[in-house]
This record gives sequence, structure tokens and C-alpha cells, in this order.
Amino acid sequence: MNKPVNVSITGAAGNIAYSAIFRIASGQMLGNDQPINLKLIDIEPAMNALKGVKFELEDCAFPLLNSITVTHDLGEGFGDCDYALLIGAKPRSKGMERKDLLKDNGKIFQPQGKALNNNAKSSVKVLVVGNPANTNALIAMHNAPNIDPHQFTSMMRLDHDRSKAQVALKYKVQINDVKKIIVWGNHSNTQVPDLSKTEVKGEEIKEVMNTDWYVNEFMPRIQKRGAEIIEARGLSSAASAANAAVSHMRDWAAGSSDWLSIGQISNNNTFGITNNIMFSFPSRCSGGVFEIVNELEMSDSIESLIKKTESELVQERDSVLELLK
Ligand code: NAD
Ligand code: LMR
Repeated sequence: MNKPVNVSITGAAGNIAYSAIFRIASGQMLGNDQPINLKLIDIEPAMNALKGVKFELEDCAFPLLNSITVTHDLGEGFGDCDYALLIGAKPRSKGMERKDLLKDNGKIFQPQGKALNNNAKSSVKVLVVGNPANTNALIAMHNAPNIDPHQFTSMMRLDHDRSKAQVALKYKVQINDVKKIIVWGNHSNTQVPDLSKTEVKGEEIKEVMNTDWYVNEFMPRIQKRGAEIIEARGLSSAASAANAAVSHMRDWAAGSSDWLSIGQISNNNTFGITNNIMFSFPSRCSGGVFEIVNELEMSDSIESLIKKTESELVQERDSVLELLK
């Protein structure tokens, strides 16, 4: 058995966390030989509900769960943190865009960035889930100057997995037959799900990029899937978001043979995307680090779509400059 690691989760009394926490405690994120100290963070009024989550965790008798902390104190919650899942934030409701949440949610990530900076291990791996995830991650990163910016990521895995699933359905193949999905840019309706490098059973499917299915069905479905779920459920995605968060952290920690879409700091990328935004790039992951898949050529049509999502992220960043100090 390894030494226990500290996993901090914000929004721990909320819907996504309720689907994520039990999977993390059972070993699905960090493996069956990795004991975990769980640090569950929420706001003070949610402490009673969070105590209930703690009771349920105890009742599961998870062999890997070494300790459970329930707190609204960020210093305690991020103490010696190895993995931080920043989920706590308001979800949108029908008719809203995710960026409409920035005014309320952005300010949550400034104190959290500072608290990570002052209390977490300098090697901490941070995933921001709370929307708008990319710009919230940028805020947290800017407020943690002692942590390498590459240790802050924003969640694009749900968009990535949605894309993979739709391709598997279209081609009538298994999920594992689909490789090299790319989702560029922002976790918003300007994101660019790109199948130009995707392989199905080892064969490229780039010809699909010119079809009515890609342009008029696949792309808008992925871009608007969150809204489609809110329309159907009356609530935003939770179990699938939790699954994406667990998969993102698992692959970051343990590596993946497939490409991943990871929202990450854009500084010095080779695609000409402006610096200082959290942008999703195709990435490879091994040995606990990820790197952008740089050696890709982009078609003109993908490039012009990418400009749109890039400029949305620049606008979001410029609307929260006071939180980046
Ligand atoms: P929820 O309302 O069920 O839970 C949110 C929780 O966060 C609540 O318990 C609330 O008390 C807590 N919270 C609020 N402010 C906090 C703070 N300052 N510190 C700690 N906790 C705080 O919402 P949910 O369904 O779990 O969704 C959470 C967020 O995740 C939303 O912003 C949602 O839009 C986003 N989301 C992102 C993705 C993605 O792919 N990036 C996918 C789904 C949902
Ligand atoms: C999603 O993509 O399902 C989440 O970001 C929730 C939302 O607001 O769409």
C-alpha cells in the first residue's frame, strides 16, 4: 500500500460531488493501492448536509478511505493537498450561458487560489469544474503564484467523452474503437469538437468533417449538450460530470494511451493561440504530466472556429481582470 494522499473537493455537498466522492473513495480515481484522506469543503450553511455525506461515506466501509474531513475553512480543506477538485459553484439554469455565471462564480476562485497557494503541496494537481470552468481556473491559477500554472486545469473531459460517445454511436463501434478526439477552446457553446484527426478502429475519419452530420448534427449537439440536459432534467449534468472529473484526474495521475482534451494555460503554445487564457488543447498524458500534441495541421475551417472560442475566452478574462491580481 502507498502512503495516503490528500484529495480536496469543493462543493462537496452538491450534486456533482455526490456522484464523484464515493467513486473517489472506492479507488476509481487513484487506483486500488492508493489510500485517501478526503477533505470535503463547502460553505458554512451546507455543513449539516456535508455531515450527512460523511456519515454515508463511513457506512460504505471503503478500505482505501483513511480519513474524512468536513470543513468550510479553505486553509484546513486544502492543507497538504495533492489533488484538488474545485466543483463548488452555482450551476446555470434554462436560458443562461455558462459565462453568465462568471459574475457570481468568478469570485469564489480567487480565495481558493490563494488558499491552495498557501496550504496545498506545491505539486498539487488542480481540476476546475465549476462554471465557467476555463476562466475560473485562470482566476485560481493567477492567485497561486507559487504553484506551476500547468498544475491548474479546467474540465473539458465531459465534452471530449460526449464527442467520443457520439462518434461510437454514429459508426456503430465500441467506445474503445474511437481514438484521438479533440475538443478545442472553451467549455461553452463556442467549443470546437474536431474529428479531423480522429480514428475509428485505427482508420482516420477526416472525410466526415465535410458532411451534414458533422456540421449540423454532431458539432451543435456537443456544443449544446449541457443545455440539452438542463432542458430534459431541469438540472445540469451531474453524474456524467462527476465521471469526467474522475477520468480527468485518473488519466492525469496514471497516464493514458489516447489523446485527451485538457483546459490548460495557453502560454507559448505552438498553435498561435493568445497567451494567458485557459484553452483546451489535444494533450498526451504520462508519468503525472501532460503535454500538448503539437505536431498537428489545422484546416482553415477549424482555424476560424478556434478564433471564435479564443476570442470568447479573451473577453471572459478581460471581464475579471480585478480577480487575476
Ligand atoms: P450544486 O448546486 O448541486 O452544488 C454546488 C455546491 O457548491 C453547493 O453545495 C454549494 O453550497 C457549493 N458552493 C458554493 N459556493 C462555494 C464555495 N465558495 N466554496 C465551496 N463550495 C461552494 O451544483 P453542481 O450540479 O454540483 O455543479 C457545480 C458546478 O459545476 C456548476 O458551476 C456547474 O455549472 C458546473 N459544471 C461543470 C461541468 C464541466 O464540464 N466543466 C459539468 C457540469 C457542471
Ligand atoms: C455541462 O456541460 O453539462 C455543464 O457545463 C453544465 C451546463 O451548464 O451545461
